[in-house]
Amino acid sequence: MQLDRYLYEEAKKEQMIITNSLGLDQAKTKALSYQLNALLGNFQIYYQNLRGIHWNIKGKNFFDLHAKFEELYTDANVKVDEVAERILTLGGTPLHTFEDYMKSSSVPVGKNISKDTEAVQLIVDSLTQLLLIERQILDASDEADDEGTNAMMSDFITEQEKTVWMMKAWLDQEI
Ligand SMILES: [Fe+2]
Repeated sequence: MQLDRYLYEEAKKEQMIITNSLGLDQAKTKALSYQLNALLGNFQIYYQNLRGIHWNIKGKNFFDLHAKFEELYTDANVKVDEVAERILTLGGTPLHTFEDYMKSSSVPVGKNISKDTEAVQLIVDSLTQLLLIERQILDASDEADDEGTNAMMSDFITEQEKTVWMMKAWLDQEI
């Protein structure tokens, strides 16, 4: 067999071994599904933070913030499902117990927060952590040519950066 033919056959075999039915590198896809599971766990902590401050918020801003926090947790709920279904699309298994979520958690857990500034600061701190994870996934999905995950992270990042800006404006803080 000629050398160029041999190299072509070897490259083809390698290609067959490393790509999955989505046409994505199998090992990189697996690594991405782990990263997405870390995001899923942290998103669930963020979601539960929002439920906590929705329920416990007190003071003159109650009506505004109670409604705003509901809007945010409804949005987070949709995103949690999108992340879980992306993991399944990539051939992984989404984590679904809080026991597992807590193991990969970097989002701070807010407990019994009723003061408006503390509640809004918890949102900012949670989103800062989510953004860090999402940027790592953005880089990894770019490297893996995983356009679906990449586009999802891009959308999440854009929306969350805007939310951070608005929450910081409410807190009268610089970005
Ligand atoms: Fe409610």
